[in-house]
Amino acid sequence: MLKPHEVGQMRAAGRFAAELLDSVEGEIRAGMTTADVDDLVDRLTRERGARSAPFGYRGFPAHCCTSINEVVCHGIPTPERVLKEGDIVNVDVTPIVDGFHGDASRTFAIGDVNQIAQRLVEDTYTSLWLGIAAVRPGGRVGDIGHAIQSFVEPRGYSVVRQFSGHGIGRTFHTAPAVMHYGRRGEGDAIKPGMTFTIEPMINLGDWRCDILGDGWTAVTVDRALSAQFEHTVYVTQHGVEVLTAGLRETDRLAERAIDVPDHVRIGGLAAAADPKVASAAG
Ligand code: MF3
Ligand code: CO
Ligand code: CO
Repeated sequence: MLKPHEVGQMRAAGRFAAELLDSVEGEIRAGMTTADVDDLVDRLTRERGARSAPFGYRGFPAHCCTSINEVVCHGIPTPERVLKEGDIVNVDVTPIVDGFHGDASRTFAIGDVNQIAQRLVEDTYTSLWLGIAAVRPGGRVGDIGHAIQSFVEPRGYSVVRQFSGHGIGRTFHTAPAVMHYGRRGEGDAIKPGMTFTIEPMINLGDWRCDILGDGWTAVTVDRALSAQFEHTVYVTQHGVEVLTAGLRETDRLAERAIDVPDHVRIGGLAAAADPKVASAAG
């Protein structure tokens, strides 16, 4: 639970996570290695005087996760893996700013990707925002999982079950576990002051994962494609604020005709860029 005076610090951490992903989005292209992506995240994080939470976390050897195609999450950046046209790659960053964590990820398409992959990525993004819209003080975390699962399964996708969203703040991963499947009205109560992530991993095939020999890389058991998006959110008295929204988030939502209900405040960089939203977020 966040204390009122800590909200500004969580907003700053969330904003910086969004800034990192906006920078990656501007740079990422075919021919880059995943280590190049990691170097960019590392350099920008240092320049900000912040730290990368993943580095050294339970021995994780890099500053972000880069999860390509059949990799569900926790892919390790390496100079051996060159991004190529047709790949989809999730980049997951978690800077620590002034003691607080901002955790966010996006899946990027490298050049032209096939229509099935493109649709998976877009539907996964939509499912994240449906999950966010299901957050209400007085609700339950099962409402979030239900919103995501009931959107993606009828479209033929599956929801990863081994990994969940999580409470976040001064600690990287804390209660509650935010499942991306489930039933309305079940699970932990959602209360004002909570900050947690929502980070659906959605698969084209089987929902189950294997962990590779490096002890980190999670891949789909059938090696079919997987996509993920993640935001950190803050539960307010009457709704929810998205702390890690990017500069172009509202454009992206409009392009994809995703309806964002009134109790959802699009914070992060989107708010910083729009004085109207910023003052509403006060
Ligand atoms: N950022 C990931 C998450 O969303 C966690 C990565 S842990 C690491 O929770 F060690 F792999 F970086
Ligand atoms: Co997370
Ligand atoms: Co993350």
